[in-house]
Amino acid sequence: MEIKTFGVIGAGQMGNGIAQVAAMSGLNVIMTDISTEFLERGLGNITKLLTRGVDKGKFTADEKDAVLGRIKTSTDLQDMQAADFVVEAATENEALKFKIFKDLDEICASHVILSTNTSSIPIGRIASQTKRPDKLIGMHFMNPVPVMKLVEVIRALATSDETFDTTWELAKKFGKTPAEANDYPGFIANRILMPMINEAVYCLYHGVGKREDIDTVMKLGMNHPMGPLALADLIGLDTCLAILETIYSGFNDSKYRPCPLLRKYVEAGWLGRKTGRGFYEYK
Ligand code: CAA
Repeated sequence: MEIKTFGVIGAGQMGNGIAQVAAMSGLNVIMTDISTEFLERGLGNITKLLTRGVDKGKFTADEKDAVLGRIKTSTDLQDMQAADFVVEAATENEALKFKIFKDLDEICASHVILSTNTSSIPIGRIASQTKRPDKLIGMHFMNPVPVMKLVEVIRALATSDETFDTTWELAKKFGKTPAEANDYPGFIANRILMPMINEAVYCLYHGVGKREDIDTVMKLGMNHPMGPLALADLIGLDTCLAILETIYSGFNDSKYRPCPLLRKYVEAGWLGRKTGRGFYEYK
């Protein structure tokens, strides 16, 4: 079945990025969130990035307008009725995702694939909330979505080959390179990335180095585009903590224990760029 309308749940930093790449690939997009304020902010971010693309000569103002014209927004999940494929990019909270998928299972036609951009929650656990576990799959984009080339495609136990192939091809249509992962906590990307970020926080906690030195070591010594503490600020410290908790409890292995300093920052509301303060300060 041809995918013409792509549904995105959540207009936050991941959701609006996913909506942008889907619309740029020529699909009609319906993006939902719980408030018009979140939707306006998400659409505002897309508009800003597209305008920057026009200024840089990457595409024309007409092309920008056409992309924006393909994106509809709504605060009513029922509007996902129109979607031929859905990706959920809501907050990383299991109970919330369970509710969304139970609702989507009622709203969307039975052939529609329901995917999740979860960073670490087992796809099988989400799939079991629905009556279509064969049509549940992980479609994990990286932040910032318009820039990062990877989409991690995660197969759960019951995911059908047809669902997998459709998702894989869709990632390619979006101009991304897919990589296949199996359904274990953190999948591949965060199973490797989060312990690195956590260890950087432990280095800060133990006074091994100052924040700038820790990041400089990884930037210049390992050729990473940004240091792990700056990257944690970009991802969101609450998200990093939530992912680490899922991996830690999922394997019941102390090697994934979140650093107490990370927890302390999250408890203080120092969540990174989005709150103006994390390991660094932002205007
Ligand atoms: N949104 C969209 N585009 C952005 C952007 C953003 N937030 N930030 C930067 N860009 C674009 C810029 O417009 C620029 O585009 P052009 O090349 O067309 O001019 C390009 O990216 C490069 O930007 P800059 O020159 O300003 O800065 P940079 O070269 O330092 O790149 C970066 C910025 C792309 C963020 C780079 O530092 C980087 O790749 N960092 C690592 C990001 C990363 O590891 N992401 C994965 C996080 S983990 C994850 O997402 C999964 C999870 O589950 C937690």
